[in-house]
Amino acid sequence: MSTGAVDPTTTAAWSRLARLAGSFQPDLRSSLTPDWVEEQTLVAGDLHVDLSKNLVDAEVESALLALADEVDVLGRRDAMLAGERINVTEDRAVLHTALRLPAGASLTVDGQDVVADVHEVLERAYAFAERVRSGEWTGVTGRRIETVVNIGIGGSDLGPVMAYEALEPYRQDGLSCRFISNIDPTDAGQSLSGLDPETTLFIVSSKTFGTLETLTNARLCRAWLLEQLPAGTDADAAVAQHFVAVSTALDKVADFGIDTDNAFGFWDWVGGRYSMDSAIGLSLVIAIGPERFAELLAGFHAMDEHFRTAPAAANVPLRMGLLNVWYTNFLGAHTHAVLPYSQLLHRFPAYLQQLTMESNGKGVRWDGTPVDYDTGEVFWGEPGTNGQHAFYQLIHQGTRLVPADFIAFARPAYPLVDEVDGRQVDVHELFLANFFAQTKALAFGKTADEVRAEGVEEALVPARTFPGNRPTTSIMAPLLTPGVLGQLVALYEHITFVEGAVWGIDSFDQWGVELGKQLAQELGPAVSGDTGVLAEQDPSTQSLIGYYQEHRG
Ligand code: F6P
Repeated sequence: MSTGAVDPTTTAAWSRLARLAGSFQPDLRSSLTPDWVEEQTLVAGDLHVDLSKNLVDAEVESALLALADEVDVLGRRDAMLAGERINVTEDRAVLHTALRLPAGASLTVDGQDVVADVHEVLERAYAFAERVRSGEWTGVTGRRIETVVNIGIGGSDLGPVMAYEALEPYRQDGLSCRFISNIDPTDAGQSLSGLDPETTLFIVSSKTFGTLETLTNARLCRAWLLEQLPAGTDADAAVAQHFVAVSTALDKVADFGIDTDNAFGFWDWVGGRYSMDSAIGLSLVIAIGPERFAELLAGFHAMDEHFRTAPAAANVPLRMGLLNVWYTNFLGAHTHAVLPYSQLLHRFPAYLQQLTMESNGKGVRWDGTPVDYDTGEVFWGEPGTNGQHAFYQLIHQGTRLVPADFIAFARPAYPLVDEVDGRQVDVHELFLANFFAQTKALAFGKTADEVRAEGVEEALVPARTFPGNRPTTSIMAPLLTPGVLGQLVALYEHITFVEGAVWGIDSFDQWGVELGKQLAQELGPAVSGDTGVLAEQDPSTQSLIGYYQEHRG
């Protein structure tokens, strides 16, 4: 694989796409034929993916696939899967896919069988989780653990919390998790409130074990624990029983005072936002159990295999990634909505924000050359139907193009029935009717004549007309199981990869978060009253800190 990044705008396919975009007149009302729907409905594992309501035709699709060929997306995919150091700016391999290779598979990187390493840690994490779940692992006073508190931020928080919420029906009774991420002391304050220290286990999750928020919160929790436990409890014994860690930096874990026997490692070839299926998922393993966690990993792996082996035209992550490129670079979209029709997925958009935006919010290619085309999409969303009563107005009738992914499951987690006028109404069916209605409304809209035919007075016709041709992808699966969740997450990981590969950027570094961290460290003394440091600041920062000092009470 060549290390020089291709400027995608220099390819023949890019020029062809620009030409096609110039004259493209979408008309889903006429183009959405049964043959088109059949052709555009793809299957990946348990996921049924309907791409038919996107604003493309066969010619655009073939040009998108040609673009993928010209920039060698699949070559880069193979390089990633083989453990090449495609994270160029950090000189690292990118091997989150190795986290879900089955035991017995083999992948050697720098002379080391990474699959064996992965399974060794997994087995330890599974054994530890079983001890907590069974009550064999107790707090220092001998009481069974009832609450697990994960302390972590970014990738060390968003994946575990998202999956914990999504897999709520699979959790063990009597054992719950809380998540502390924000350095806002409210987060620790609220999360610790009402907890019994004797039955609480803390997991300090940090890839680097150097993140200010996480270490601060870990110290706050340690102090809280030692203060709240019965007087006379041995502090070292308490920390040993109530604190475990997940990190790549086991030396720093030891410095913090956590016994490395109770630490679970991972590797620098796992990016933070790609780590929920490593030991970073320990809180989830405890909550849902090793067997369910293994199903989650199998789901990830099934999607990896699909991405690795499916022919380009049937390859769901490839096709969805290329659609996003089309919308971003040729049709002028800036954002991308993800709309799960599942309350259990209420943290999925937040999870995807880190995955996609920390990965693809880059302005230079992986060889350092600047891009002169848009990269990254602003991902956002909320579960349906809540979003319908909040921001769907803009998607339906606003002036912006917002491609949207709709996600739904045939079977409900909670099958509830409502009784209306003596009739039994399956509430999940009512819910799904909304899911089907929204993509239909977005695609077909409502013409002025249709509005008039409803008897609407002429002055109101424009406001009540829907332009239609608003693109959506519908993703369905039978039920939100651990395996299906793994497939969904891996699908978006690979979509993100495809976009980054087309744009020629390094989707696996995150230098853009460093400056803010550095300045926060520098400003700390000014905030606490160091007038010398304050005087060195720009006038706006001085004025804001001044406001704080005046009002801090
Ligand atoms: O926000 C930057 C970042 O490095 C993320 O990429 C990462 O997920 C998060 O901070 C937390 O990092 P760590 O797991 O090392 O504490």
